[in-house]
Amino acid sequence: MSRRKQIYEGKAKILYEGPEPGTLIQYFKDDATAFNAQKKATLDGKGVLNNRISEYVMLRLAEIGIPTHFLKRINMREQLIKKVDIVPLEVICRNVAAGTMAKRLGIEEGEALPRSIVEFCLKRDDLGDPLVAEEHIHAFGWATPEEVDEMVAMTLRINDYLRGLFSGIGINLIDFKIEFGRLALAEGHQIILADEISPDSCRLWDRETNKKLDKDRFRRDLGNVTEAYTEVATRLGIIKPSGPNGKPHLSVVSNEE
Ligand code: TYD
Repeated sequence: MSRRKQIYEGKAKILYEGPEPGTLIQYFKDDATAFNAQKKATLDGKGVLNNRISEYVMLRLAEIGIPTHFLKRINMREQLIKKVDIVPLEVICRNVAAGTMAKRLGIEEGEALPRSIVEFCLKRDDLGDPLVAEEHIHAFGWATPEEVDEMVAMTLRINDYLRGLFSGIGINLIDFKIEFGRLALAEGHQIILADEISPDSCRLWDRETNKKLDKDRFRRDLGNVTEAYTEVATRLGIIKPSGPNGKPHLSVVSNEE
């Protein structure tokens, strides 16, 4: 993987120059971080699982007309993507109170929200990605009002679709974080979905038991993190439960690089 020019290294992914102009290669690492990178670990096979899950979700979203940066999966850890300028905002959509919202507003974790809520955080690790209002976004020029409207509309469509997708496999989509990018066109640019959608960036609870099948297993030291991600991939039909004792066969997804 060092044969290509590295463009950027984030906490869970590396971006390399792509084979064609306007493309990049997104490499999924096994590294996990939380609490602004104060907590770190390497989770065997996480990158492989997130590559596969994000590919699956991006393809399904493209089918319903959401423009995404995803072009194709290259191997178990890498995907070819369109090069975009990332909008410096994390767009969070919530259906059920959890995490920082539950804490900030004193709502019990697990309480259904009156309706889906979209929030924005500024992508600034040094500031701990602070929550910002649309006023700040417009005033500081992080995105135009039209871009904000487009991102909110796309986020709500993504939420509707993903809630249904996960509900079909017995999972409640509690919340998720997405990022958008500006794709340069002959004239102007288009806002498209970028980054990843995986159990690293969503809260996914089993509908029957409320068992957490997402990164909270790492944040909260609940253990069995990759097992939970494997369960999500298995329920989505991405990997087959072909282990000797009927358990998902992790090696199916972790052998290949
Ligand atoms: P949130 O409750 O705001 O933060 P935390 O994860 O610190 O409790 O997170 C809402 C959802 O967005 C949750 O599924 C995790 C995801 N998220 C990220 O993936 N990255 C981030 O930087 C943030 C702030 C949230």
